[in-house]
Amino acid sequence: MQRVLSGVQPSGSLHLGNLVGAIENFVKLQEQYQAYYMIVDWHALTSKFDKSEEIQPAIHEVAATFLAAGLDPERATLFIQSQVKEHAELHLLFSMITPLSWVERVPTYKEKLQNSEADLGSYGFLGYPILQAADILIYQAHKVPVGEDQLFHLELTREIGRRFHFLYNTEIFPEPQAVLTQVPKVPGLDGRKMSKTYDNGIYLRDTPDQILHKCTRQMLSDTARVRKTDPGNPEVCNVFTFHKLFSDSETVNLVAQECPRAGIGCFDCKKKLAEAITARVEPLRQKIEDNLAQPARLDAILRDGSDRARATAQATMARVREAMHLPTL
Ligand code: TRP
Ligand code: SF4
Repeated sequence: MQRVLSGVQPSGSLHLGNLVGAIENFVKLQEQYQAYYMIVDWHALTSKFDKSEEIQPAIHEVAATFLAAGLDPERATLFIQSQVKEHAELHLLFSMITPLSWVERVPTYKEKLQNSEADLGSYGFLGYPILQAADILIYQAHKVPVGEDQLFHLELTREIGRRFHFLYNTEIFPEPQAVLTQVPKVPGLDGRKMSKTYDNGIYLRDTPDQILHKCTRQMLSDTARVRKTDPGNPEVCNVFTFHKLFSDSETVNLVAQECPRAGIGCFDCKKKLAEAITARVEPLRQKIEDNLAQPARLDAILRDGSDRARATAQATMARVREAMHLPTL
């Protein structure tokens, strides 16, 4: 069975975009692959070293959400990066063979350095993609489900793997390939990409009332439609984009038909949307809250996953050390 691996930052509340873009896909992949899903707390530290107390609760939130979405911890290995110290060792060894120019040319690096509010001028942040390469290659992963923003990191991962093979005349790491999801991006309430940074999200822990409020009061619609008697244009309306993602086809067709002839008002249209989103989110929310109420159970699952992950990582490291002629006493 091929291995699939991905990493998720523990950075607070997960939203609808995370659910549709990543989490549901991860859950599906556990059926066809040997799946490893890692909560990357060390990566979170690269930007949150001064708010490290926020990371542990966020780890539980990620775990609670994955389990609520159907991740089966027997089938898939759900674990915490920092519980498998071998990642740090491989990161160190990879830093020896990775030319500085490779990490400096990562397109997101300079941009993030300049635009982020966090102080990213550290040595650790420059090494972020090298740590990610270690995360992936240590499990000899074949497939890596990620967003498009991660493609360059994956390319770098392959290059580091090739360089390792060339330098030490070995073949340890399969070349990991990205798995891009087909789902369209979920916009935010304001029409930009749904993102925690923009504070424009519908969160998986939002209550039905909060969802109703966000849909009816905060979500941008066709701005050209001022009065209820004005015809609207669903094609330029953010609310309609949401309907296409979350409502049944009957509702989508109704809105498509009635909105352009002012047969439905925006408030009613948004209320229908809130119902559709709530139907999707509410069962999940209750499971997330149940899971969060049992922190010891979450820890046990994460401990067990980390133990299994470590066994795999240790086997790879034995080969890596041998290939690099490191002493074994
Ligand atoms: N950089 C990834 C992100 O921000 C997180 C990540 C860390 C990751 N290690 C990984 C993703 C390994 C895939 C595989 O989303
Ligand atoms: Fe948008 Fe719905 Fe209003 Fe039409 S009725 S403009 S689709 S919110």
